Amino acid sequence: MDHPRLSRPFILKLTVSIIVLVLLLQYWLLQASWYRDYQNTQSISLHQLAGNATLGFGAILAVTPHSPPERTSWRKAGMQQAASFNGLDIGYPRQPQWNESDTERLAANSPDGEPKGGAAKAWLGHLYTLQQATEHRTALIFEDDVDWDVAIREQSVAVAEAIWDLTHPHDDEQDKVLNEESDAPYGLSWDVLWLGHCGSSLPREDDEAAQITSFTDTTLPPIVKTSIPQLIENPTHQRYVYRTGSPICSFAYAVTQAAARSIVERASAGQAVAFDVWMHFACERGELRCYAVNPELFHQHEMAGPHDSIINGVDQGTVVEARRTMNIRYSARCNADLGGSMEQPVTCSGEPA
Ligand SMILES: *[C@@H]1O[C@H](CO)[C@@H](O)[C@H](O)[C@H]1NC(C)=O
Ligand SMILES: *[C@@H]1O[C@H](CO)[C@@H](O)[C@H](O)[C@H]1NC(C)=O
Repeated sequence: MDHPRLSRPFILKLTVSIIVLVLLLQYWLLQASWYRDYQNTQSISLHQLAGNATLGFGAILAVTPHSPPERTSWRKAGMQQAASFNGLDIGYPRQPQWNESDTERLAANSPDGEPKGGAAKAWLGHLYTLQQATEHRTALIFEDDVDWDVAIREQSVAVAEAIWDLTHPHDDEQDKVLNEESDAPYGLSWDVLWLGHCGSSLPREDDEAAQITSFTDTTLPPIVKTSIPQLIENPTHQRYVYRTGSPICSFAYAVTQAAARSIVERASAGQAVAFDVWMHFACERGELRCYAVNPELFHQHEMAGPHDSIINGVDQGTVVEARRTMNIRYSARCNADLGGSMEQPVTCSGEPA
């Protein structure tokens, strides 16, 4: 039988064409899809780490007094419940029982004897917890009445990405720092991430040197108690992240190891009415590189009854009608306590749902 024969030049051309095609295909795959996907998964998975049980930090540490009075025992108990609701891993370093000589030492450098009383004890509590934080590359510090949204583990991922972008503005730096900061979802080019506060102004709009970014966050509460116009009227649900000097209230903040050491060293000299005020001024003077999230991710929970604070004690003047966490849409404490679920969360923001 006779087979049709292909001419030698034809076979040669065909072979060359196939080789060229295969090479082109390979080049295109490498450049366009495989390589870029690979790069993306590298940075996506890095920020995804911020959704782990310690929200991407080396540890979460709570500032809890040695032996809190019965009327404030709900603070730590509620935090433990909320933590197990969200699968968070929180450490509770056991503080010493502070006495007069400890608080007097803290106030010794201040002409008017500040900090005093509860504020001094709270300050010592922060210092003690920060001392524990120096054992970790980064740590998130919680005051013991702090609360968060049930969606915290998604919120933190978006915030990590925003912090990373703000602190690494130049693309060409990314590869360089990726080596040193490869398992630090927020990077390490900051001192304090002020994630829970009771007020922090945004940079002025005409400030061209301002470091600010924002992203759409559908988990924001419908009403935010604040004096900042952009947050009151916020139809596109923007959460802002920016370099700041102005926050107040140390509900929740993260520190790097170096920052924890430096704060312990410097804040042990007292010289302010309260710890958050000290840190506010250190941020304002640029001694610490501070970044804030606004609206905040963490806010204090308040029980019904007279307002009660570790710093000021019971304040009979302010009565909280129903337990609440302002500026948090679905409080983890309330959901853990009142039988809410991720699918059907309850709200206790102090506002109608
Ligand atoms: C969460 O991720 C951070 C950053 O990689 C890491 O240091 C920390 O140990 C992780 N937490 C847990 C509970 O695995
Ligand atoms: C106060 O507590 C410290 C430890 O925190 C202790 O060394 C000191 O002896 C105590 N002072 C008094 C007067 O009890």
